Amino acid sequence: MSVIRKAVFPVAGLGTRFLPATKSIPKEMLTIVDRPLIHYVVEEAKAAGIEEFIFVTSRGKSAVEDHFDQAYELENTLESRGKIDALKELHEWLPEAGTVMYTRQPAPLGLGHAVWCARHLVGDEPFAVLLPDELVLNDVPCLKQLVDAHTKTGGNVLGVFDVPRAETNRYGILDVISDDGSLVEVSGLVEKPDPERAPSTLSITGRYILMPEIFGYLSEQQKGAGDEIQLTDAMARMIGNGPFHGLRFKGERHDCGNVNGFLRANIAFGLTREDVAPSLKEFLSGLPL
Ligand code: G1P
Repeated sequence: MSVIRKAVFPVAGLGTRFLPATKSIPKEMLTIVDRPLIHYVVEEAKAAGIEEFIFVTSRGKSAVEDHFDQAYELENTLESRGKIDALKELHEWLPEAGTVMYTRQPAPLGLGHAVWCARHLVGDEPFAVLLPDELVLNDVPCLKQLVDAHTKTGGNVLGVFDVPRAETNRYGILDVISDDGSLVEVSGLVEKPDPERAPSTLSITGRYILMPEIFGYLSEQQKGAGDEIQLTDAMARMIGNGPFHGLRFKGERHDCGNVNGFLRANIAFGLTREDVAPSLKEFLSGLPL
């Protein structure tokens, strides 16, 4: 049994950067090649040994729930048309009944608040958080790398990567005590600092392993950057209470939370697919760039 059994997927955001697409479609259902963003992160969590999948949703997100449920009409139609491979594939990735849970974040009060909404479903054990905006291409899934690091270090472990200094105001940024090139020991965390005040350029990506004590800090509901209850601020207050590391995970990270990153991810993921890559390559090489 994996030590990290539960994962929280905050999917309550409004997705305003993708309007008008996200007026009626949840941002997490936007597709990279032919599967929604949320599909990739749930698969990543499964590959890291996660057994229980906790979604923090909001109004208008029922498509996310439907995606992880059986679709009788569709399945019957596929069966009657003899599309057995498609039917088999639909069943293969469906999480087992009773392993998917939903709770709602009633108001958009911030990522910290969204995670806090899952406190009763997580209970008193370390857990993972995956933000579906961020995808990582690598043979060893990003969360699996974090779980392996956590097995060695214990405590909190964050997926981290270096960003250009000009972009520190888009991310949570680490202050570090030691750095062996892979694992860094965290001495401070600050949410979206201006480049000139950022303690480093090492940023938090959307992968976390957190100790359950985080809920105590989140319950104080202190507001931070952007007047929101920030997960980063609650994590910062845990520093010193136990091991706290960042892991420079291996892989190509894609921020799909903005239109440019989303388009690039579609190309990068398309190029990894045997069924898509040849014609995509041909199309790209023929572009008048
Ligand atoms: C959130 C976190 C931030 C982190 C980022 C990664 O920010 O608050 O610390 O670096 O995700 O994508 P958001 O993108 O929700 O503004």
